[in-house]
Amino acid sequence: MTKSNKFEQVYKITKLDRSLKKKQKPLCIWFTGLSGSGKSTLIDALEIYLYKKNFHTYVLDGDNLRNGLCGDLDFSNDSRDENLRRASEVARLMVDAGLIVLAGFISPSLKQRERIRRLFNKNEFIEVFVSTPLDICEKRDVKGLYEKARIGKIKNFTGVDSEFEVPDKSEITIDTQSSSIDQSMVELIGQLKL
Ligand code: ADX
Repeated sequence: MTKSNKFEQVYKITKLDRSLKKKQKPLCIWFTGLSGSGKSTLIDALEIYLYKKNFHTYVLDGDNLRNGLCGDLDFSNDSRDENLRRASEVARLMVDAGLIVLAGFISPSLKQRERIRRLFNKNEFIEVFVSTPLDICEKRDVKGLYEKARIGKIKNFTGVDSEFEVPDKSEITIDTQSSSIDQSMVELIGQLKL
């Protein structure tokens, strides 16, 4: 086995310095759930709320990253692993920069979510499960993707012919089925205790 030639440079300005300057505790809030479950809607509303309270935030959105940083990846299990590896490493850098990161990715498997969680300090990571059931997401079908998946025009679609493993470790679960966005937000903000 060849010896690794990788090094770690240490810089004098630290995460603590950067977060003190921003007057906030850095945090990654990771939203998991099916396509159409309401992750982006909740993230949007939460970011507006935090922005108005003078927090420094950034959103990492699955759809958006797949148009850029992850544009070379498909929806096979290996590609999803790589998509989530890149996204979570970026989130970790942003937490190191002192930001509050709102990340919205289906992140369908327990193993992927476990890997993501391990990248962060315990008090700097919160998993939010947006638990909207498949039949509701499919009825909403905002992007028309479920319909395409049902007739075989899209392969490996989460919930249709690719599995979503229900989270067992989420700090917060939001049920958008029985509550309005405003109610979900009140619940989310209450539980985040920011
Ligand atoms: S993840 O599984 O790797 O976490 P990610 O959150 O980045 O997925 O991307 C999901 C988004 O890509 C969905 O909201 C949907 O708009 C789009 N998409 C396109 N094809 C698929 C597919 N086969 N499965 C799931 N989402 C898909």
